[in-house]
Amino acid sequence: MEKISQIDLSTTLAGVKMRSSLGVSPHNLDKPWFPGTKAAELFKKYIDAGAGFIYIPAIVPGEPSKAEKNLDFTTLFENQQYVGRWLKVKADGKSVMGHIYTAKNLFNFLPWGRELIENIKLYLPPDVPVIAQVLVHDVDPEKWAKHAEKVASLGVYLIELNTGCPVGAMSHIDPRKLPPEAKWGMFMGTAPEILLPVLKAVVEATHLPVGFKLSPEVGYPRMLYVVEESVKVGIRYVVTTHKYFAVAPPDIWNNGAGKFPALDSNCLADFGGPALRLSMYKATALVSKYFPQIDTFAGGGIVSPEHVIEAIMLGASACQTLTGVVCGGIKFLSRTNEWLYEYMKKCGYTKIEDFKGMGLKHLQSSTEAKFRYYVAKPDFKLCTGCGKCAESYCPAITMQEGRPVVDGRYCSCCGMCNFICPVDAFKYVSRG
Ligand SMILES: Cc1cc2nc3c(=O)[nH]c(=O)nc-3n(C[C@H](O)[C@H](O)[C@H](O)COP(=O)(O)O)c2cc1C
Repeated sequence: MEKISQIDLSTTLAGVKMRSSLGVSPHNLDKPWFPGTKAAELFKKYIDAGAGFIYIPAIVPGEPSKAEKNLDFTTLFENQQYVGRWLKVKADGKSVMGHIYTAKNLFNFLPWGRELIENIKLYLPPDVPVIAQVLVHDVDPEKWAKHAEKVASLGVYLIELNTGCPVGAMSHIDPRKLPPEAKWGMFMGTAPEILLPVLKAVVEATHLPVGFKLSPEVGYPRMLYVVEESVKVGIRYVVTTHKYFAVAPPDIWNNGAGKFPALDSNCLADFGGPALRLSMYKATALVSKYFPQIDTFAGGGIVSPEHVIEAIMLGASACQTLTGVVCGGIKFLSRTNEWLYEYMKKCGYTKIEDFKGMGLKHLQSSTEAKFRYYVAKPDFKLCTGCGKCAESYCPAITMQEGRPVVDGRYCSCCGMCNFICPVDAFKYVSRG
């Protein structure tokens, strides 16, 4: 993207500068992780499209097996390794609500991480930091610390612990049979007694700023407790939202069978995409509000440039998306940077800080907020007379001569009529 005049799209996360506030969330390639040289080709495309940072996903200790090294898919599939499946979930038969994903064993070995970093460094602009994700299939803080030290020595800028991955939870249909320590994935993120010693050990072992990825399964308000404790051990940033653990809908036209492609069952799964966005806003706003001493990295459900602004207004220092580039193509990054530039120009903002956290000033509890006693008023320039607003259970609206009429005695200005209205024809006005 052409660098233009006085508008500055750059941001900082945990003290590390990024040329723009959006990049691609960590993800493997759904296949055996391609060796670093191959993966670097994809990551170069992210850089060319204006990504603010690059992620090296889920680096685990150990060496790839012979089959993994040779990308021997036949053997890998025979051993049921690295199998991932996507399934589209539609909200109303049309718009996409999210993706449900199921997988086995998706991660990245240290040598591949090293190879990727070496290759990507050939193209890396100085203000595009590399964030390396650390994942250890164990709850021993010392093992995490040792591994994180090795990852930090690869020449990356930030260390992130993948402590929210739900893939581990897919490994047993009966959660009581999951190993008690849950080893890896979401259970670590939901168990502060396991998580916090790991965070502490990693912070102490590395010279780099350390962040971690929150599991949405931790829930509210527990997430705030976890973040509070993590700040005490030196965590510098939090990624707001990993995917939720999920079950895909059954195929109602095929005796309730699973709908994943080339998979015999309705396998335990997780979901990402637009449906995650509200959870992301919640974590972004509340973590930013209560813990301004660390940075919030907003991820989950960002699929349009407006979502990036919304997350920044709720306090995010930077944003990440996977679904945005899957559904909108890699050009979603350049499109968003261009949109952001135009938006800032229009609003008179010259830097991200000008609007960062602006929305937090308006965040109030329902007991503090003042609900006004207004009344609904249809705008007949927009109203098509379809009558949908009168078909629900609102006691105030009736159709008279093809037009909605609001009986002010029963209208509490709840907003349901506009929620129903296909053309947003209702306004809410003072009774005054
Ligand atoms: C195929 C695939 C692989 C992923 N791999 C990782 C990973 O290695 N580490 C991680 O933290 N998140 C991983 N994620 C989760 C994404 O980073 C992201 O949190 C999730 O997709 C929600 O964001 P979205 O709504 O923008 O898609 C993966 C997601 C998918 C679909």
